[in-house]
Amino acid sequence: MPRLPSSVYNPLSLVGAGIALVSFGTVLVFFAMDMLGYTDSPYLGIFTYMIIPAVLILGLLLIPVGMYWERRRIKKNKGEKRRFMVLDLNDPRNRMAVMVFTVGTMLLIVVSAAGTYQAYNYSESVEFCGEVCHEVMYPEYMAYQHSPHARVPCAECHIGEGADWFVKAKISGAYQVYSVVFNKYHKPIKTPIANLRPARETCEECHWPSKFSSDKKLEKVYFPLDTADAQPWKIVMDVKIGGGQSELGPTEGIHWHMNTANDVRYVATDDRRLDIPYIESTGLDGKTKIFRARDIAFSDEEIAAFEMRKMDCIDCHNRPSHIYYPPFRTVNDAMAVGRIAPDLPNIRAIASHALTREYDSQRQALRTIPDLVRNNYRTHAPELLETRRTAIDSSIVEIQRIYERNFFPSMLVTWKEYPNNIGHMYDEGCFRCHDGQHVTDDGEVLSNDCNICHTIIVQGPQGETVSSLDGMPFRHPADIDEVWREVPCSDCHLGE
Ligand code: HEC
Ligand code: HEC
Ligand code: HEC
Ligand code: HEC
Ligand code: HEC
Ligand code: HEC
Repeated sequence: MPRLPSSVYNPLSLVGAGIALVSFGTVLVFFAMDMLGYTDSPYLGIFTYMIIPAVLILGLLLIPVGMYWERRRIKKNKGEKRRFMVLDLNDPRNRMAVMVFTVGTMLLIVVSAAGTYQAYNYSESVEFCGEVCHEVMYPEYMAYQHSPHARVPCAECHIGEGADWFVKAKISGAYQVYSVVFNKYHKPIKTPIANLRPARETCEECHWPSKFSSDKKLEKVYFPLDTADAQPWKIVMDVKIGGGQSELGPTEGIHWHMNTANDVRYVATDDRRLDIPYIESTGLDGKTKIFRARDIAFSDEEIAAFEMRKMDCIDCHNRPSHIYYPPFRTVNDAMAVGRIAPDLPNIRAIASHALTREYDSQRQALRTIPDLVRNNYRTHAPELLETRRTAIDSSIVEIQRIYERNFFPSMLVTWKEYPNNIGHMYDEGCFRCHDGQHVTDDGEVLSNDCNICHTIIVQGPQGETVSSLDGMPFRHPADIDEVWREVPCSDCHLGE
């Protein structure tokens, strides 16, 4: 019977071959399991397409290494001069070796190409990004699943098309795997992401700025903290989201910033891009205006030392997919649709208190919340525990659900750590620049006029609202004089 070269028969090569064979078999079995959908475990993918193939290659590498050593040993023992192997295809042994080698290599190339392709797909999958590092990514993943982008794979926004960003992502990805394994990551994960791909290359694969032309209607009902002494307050406004269309010239609207003919650049002095002392704006006419913050004094040299950032989608839409809502919003909106019974006395304050307390873990919070709510009623209105039992029970379930989606004590994640830049109610958002405090040297103020971004068409206590299609001046629901004209909303409205 033809045999392989004798140098193969050494312990190291044999062990290598054994390892390679066993892992090859395992890959086949796991691969079949994955294809047939036997399990949803994200770890199966890691094993099948990353870890076991690595072991397989290691095993294969051991074979030639063993052969090399073995041959050296044989030669040393016989004291012969070193000679290269002579391939004589008439020799059945050599023939067999060449065949095994060729077929084996071809097989390996096919399998590893398929494996690499799978590994590539796998490392881009939502499963890999969201579930494998589940403690670390859990908040982002959870928020993502309940966002408008729940069907958009993580990689579409975080990597995008093209080989260069793919390589960059894998390099930073390798560091991330390292930081997870060795527990070196920051809690909560830092935001903004310093080297996120420019949004024009990701978001614009699906959203074109020139599409932005109409208004978006925003309808809000606000429940007062104490439902006993005030009616809910209603506001309907048209948010002017047009402006992206450069063909139409200098159109109005929020996406003006994104009009390809305009260009806004700014300097932020903090990591989170919240403190903005300097803004440059170049319009259609090619003229550049420079706005400086009145209250923060920075010399031009100091400003030059910071990085100048060109404004893109992310400067407003920094939470398109991982939105952690404050109780101010979630509780209120759940009341508006009746998931939390709005007529339970003080329920907004009680829910907000239950949500914002410090807990060690989500589990502890979910266990504590029902007691907190019931104890509150036991103290202040014990009869309700009987008469409004179902309303209280279903409200508790809703509060727990809100907690689960928006609060992640294990990663120290709440809305406070991740400001949302899209509005100005509980985070500075647009008012980082449009606060009436940014002026040019000529004294032109970057507008803070309530009507440049939206028009209020309905407002007032529910049942006694006033409406006008032409818009009307804002009336603050609670009596605070006209303080809201001077003080940013988010100074008082903390989201709680
Ligand atoms: C619609 C686009 C989009 C999708 C889809 C998306 N992300 Fe994000 N992600 C963002 C943006 C934008 C940021 C914030 C970037 C910034 O502010 O610099 C972000 C930030 C993050 C951060 C940093 C922490 C934070 O919250 O700012 C992590 C971690 C993250 N994403 C993970 C994921 C994972 C995991 C998935 C898939 C399960 C995913 N992302 C899907 C757009 C997206
Ligand atoms: C793969 C395609 C895709 C990519 C990439 C993408 N989006 Fe979207 N986006 C969608 C879809 C689909 C919707 C849902 C449309 C709907 O509900 O009508 C959406 C909705 C939105 C909305 C409206 C959300 C709402 O509350 O209704 C915003 C804002 C948005 N995307 C911003 C972004 C930003 C910013 C980025 C880049 C970070 C981005 N998108 C990347 C597909 C995408
Ligand atoms: C100056 C801030 C700002 C910039 C920059 C910006 N947007 Fe918007 N965008 C808004 C606001 C405000 C809204 C309306 C509020 C909302 O949808 O939550 C909006 C709405 C949207 C919507 C939803 C439209 C709808 O009909 O519901 C999409 C999609 C969107 N933006 C995508 C983008 C993309 C893509 C970019 C980058 C090319 C971008 N935006 C840049 C502020 C901005
Ligand atoms: C980094 C600073 C910055 C931020 C943040 C910012 N803007 Fe602006 N915005 C500008 C500048 C600069 C202009 C141009 C002013 C000028 O040239 O007169 C502008 C102009 C506008 C205009 C007027 C366009 C026109 O028709 O003249 C609207 C509307 C607008 N912004 C809405 C928003 C909204 C909504 C947000 C928050 C989601 C926002 N901006 C956030 C800097 C900013
Ligand atoms: C630079 C643009 C801009 C200016 C100036 C501006 N707003 Fe807004 N406002 C927004 C955006 C964007 C939103 C969020 C829309 C959304 O959530 O879809 C918003 C939301 C609101 C809301 C709803 C709050 C919520 O989230 O429930 C109120 C009320 C409001 N604005 C009042 C005002 C008043 C009063 C002024 C004048 C002092 C003002 N705005 C000035 C852009 C602006
Ligand atoms: C000086 C502090 C202060 C400022 C500044 C302020 N508010 Fe308020 N706001 C309040 C108080 C207090 C209430 C009543 C809270 C309650 O009893 O529900 C309130 C209530 C509201 C409500 C009803 C919802 C609620 O939480 O009860 C809206 C909407 C609102 N404010 C919008 C705004 C907007 C928009 C701005 C910025 C233009 C603003 N506020 C600025 C203090 C402030």
